[in-house]
Amino acid sequence: MSTRTPVVLDRARIAELTAREGARLDDRTRASAAMYERARQTLSGGVASSYQARSPWPIYLDRGQGAHVWDVDGNRMVDFHNGFGSMVQGHAHPAISAAVRDRLDLGTHFAAPTEDAVVVAEELKRRFGLPRWRYVNSGSEATMDAIRIARAHTGRETIVKIFGSYHGHHDYVMVSIGVPYDQIGDRDNLASLPYGAGIPQSVADLTIAVPFNDAAAMERRIERLVAEGRAPACVIMEAAMMNLGIVLPEPGYLEAVREITRRHGIVLIFDEVKTGLCIAAGGATERFGVRPDMVTLAKALGGGLPTGAIGGTEEVFEVVENGSVYQVGTYNGNPLGVAAARASLLEVMTPEAYAHLDKLNDHMVTGCQAVVDRHNLPGYAVGVASKGCVTFAPERIVDYETFKQHQDGELADLAWLYNLNRGVFMTPGREEEWTLSVQHTVEDCDVFIAAFEELAVDLTG
Ligand SMILES: Cc1ncc(COP(=O)(O)O)c(C=O)c1O
Repeated sequence: MSTRTPVVLDRARIAELTAREGARLDDRTRASAAMYERARQTLSGGVASSYQARSPWPIYLDRGQGAHVWDVDGNRMVDFHNGFGSMVQGHAHPAISAAVRDRLDLGTHFAAPTEDAVVVAEELKRRFGLPRWRYVNSGSEATMDAIRIARAHTGRETIVKIFGSYHGHHDYVMVSIGVPYDQIGDRDNLASLPYGAGIPQSVADLTIAVPFNDAAAMERRIERLVAEGRAPACVIMEAAMMNLGIVLPEPGYLEAVREITRRHGIVLIFDEVKTGLCIAAGGATERFGVRPDMVTLAKALGGGLPTGAIGGTEEVFEVVENGSVYQVGTYNGNPLGVAAARASLLEVMTPEAYAHLDKLNDHMVTGCQAVVDRHNLPGYAVGVASKGCVTFAPERIVDYETFKQHQDGELADLAWLYNLNRGVFMTPGREEEWTLSVQHTVEDCDVFIAAFEELAVDLTG
């Protein structure tokens, strides 16, 4: 990142452009508006998950093919949302569609293991270097079960997470995310705040948050917990933080975390629900060269079907194998899901696919950074393999505190409107990163860069 002094953005101009682009999007999405009126009569808030909600109405999709999606108004967009980062294979990939179609006629659910479940576990072992695997149906289930296994393995209850990280919607980890700047707390004693209502404070208190990219602060907090008789069972973290744009680990940080957790007998869990299979064949574990005791996978694993997995060492999985932890679920290892995962891992997410993603992402990051530089915007482009974003901040974001300090919600909302009106589909209302798919092309990426260029011109012109 350069040391230039960026322009000060005119807030009145942002408001004016937001009104203009909002009206334009409203005009283009009348069928979504009508669908919303109907949907809200039964679906709570008109959506299947609160993360799909948007004011004045959500954009309802009709179909997807390759790198593109179509909404119910017939607007065709290049998809950079990709199902919250799940569809790194692109939509309706022929190999995955064929595998699912073949499986459909053979029966879709038995709650008994099939060969595909074994093949996928063998491939995950090869990619992540972890010998034992189990399946779940979502990222939330993966992190919930991984934490339970870590607790049983260590006989400890407290867990440590990174402040601001999202690990799914169960009580253990819906803590200290999305907290306003003035409630973050002291860096050495960050707050354990439930994320939303319905989460008991007594559960939240078992979850201790520490800042990202600060191994010394993590160690100090762990030492205090040990002194208080509350030694943690696990540290659960993303090796590169997502869900607030992207925050990469500083050199040496992950190695230090690995050393600290090992020394204290703490299970290190890399939550690879976003990074796994998307940023390298062996996820962040391979990309950053640090091996945790457990990884959690979901999203991209199922190639569009709801499948997740937990990997771990023989030692931590002993509590599953000896029956003391019930790692269970009716749909775990569902034949459709593992058939899709098998096709994805063996036929789609090949070494060539990862090379293609790296090349495309370089193009995205370079193109977006050139726009930032040309218009002297307060921000920078950052990315890793299929994932990236433009972070609107005058300095580099290293953790949740710096993210919150510089968060520019108005600009993020405006950027989203510019995207939608120019054929770029992105996640509404959040600082979500882009996800590329193996079916994206350089031309698809140029649609994104051109929309960003238009935004920059209108903001600074
Ligand atoms: C890092 C991470 N972990 C876990 C989850 C939860 O996954 P799911 O929504 O499939 O339950 C998410 C979802 O966004 C995630 O980003």
